[in-house]
Amino acid sequence: MSIIGIVAVDRNRAIGKGGSIPWHYSADMKFFREQTTGHACVMGRRTWESLKRPLKDRLNVVLSRSAGVEARTEEREAEQLPQSPQPQSPPQQTGGVIVLPDKRSVLALAPYLSCHLYVIGGEQIYRMFRPEIEQWIVTEIPLAVEGADTFMPTDFLQNFRPRRSLTLADELKVTFYERA
Ligand SMILES: NC(=O)c1ccc[n+]([C@@H]2O[C@H](COP(=O)([O-])OP(=O)(O)OC[C@H]3O[C@@H](n4cnc5c(N)ncnc54)[C@H](OP(=O)(O)O)[C@@H]3O)[C@@H](O)[C@H]2O)c1
Repeated sequence: MSIIGIVAVDRNRAIGKGGSIPWHYSADMKFFREQTTGHACVMGRRTWESLKRPLKDRLNVVLSRSAGVEARTEEREAEQLPQSPQPQSPPQQTGGVIVLPDKRSVLALAPYLSCHLYVIGGEQIYRMFRPEIEQWIVTEIPLAVEGADTFMPTDFLQNFRPRRSLTLADELKVTFYERA
């Protein structure tokens, strides 16, 4: 089990605007899905709210200090899942969701996972898990988004070194970093 940060950043380290990701690159979405499927993904409540549905085939771990998040989860699943008889689409095809109240609870869960724990954002959650993140996977988005409101810290890759990189469609560069 490793704790791995995964993020897409623009040229100014922006990651979000108005509660969502201000670009759409299907190659990066596919890469994110392939990388994280079968693993646990920890995210902040705001990032959770930006998803249409739980991430499929992944354990969705949502951090929130509010007790109301879980109820909204059920509504969201009900909204998103097919309504009438769909035997091929049982709810378990959707990822499981747990809501935890603090970082300590996430770290207490981690040793019991037989998979990696991906830290998938947003800004607050990336900042919070910086000391625990052992690897970063960073997609460079070739844009400078105007009016972005959430950013990665300038030095988030301090004490990390690039291990390998690859290029996705649309010339998106992905770099895998490990602690130096
Ligand atoms: N480019 C990317 O790769 C990427 C990835 C993910 C997200 N994003 C973007 O990032 C933005 C969201 O980032 P954000 O920083 O505003 O929000 P966030 O990190 O997604 O969520 C913040 C929320 O997490 C909960 N939280 C924070 N610290 C906590 C703690 N110590 N204990 C318990 N709960 C805690 C709180 O929820 P409560 O208020 O419910 O207590 C807080 O409001 C969006 O625009 C999103 O699209 C970008």
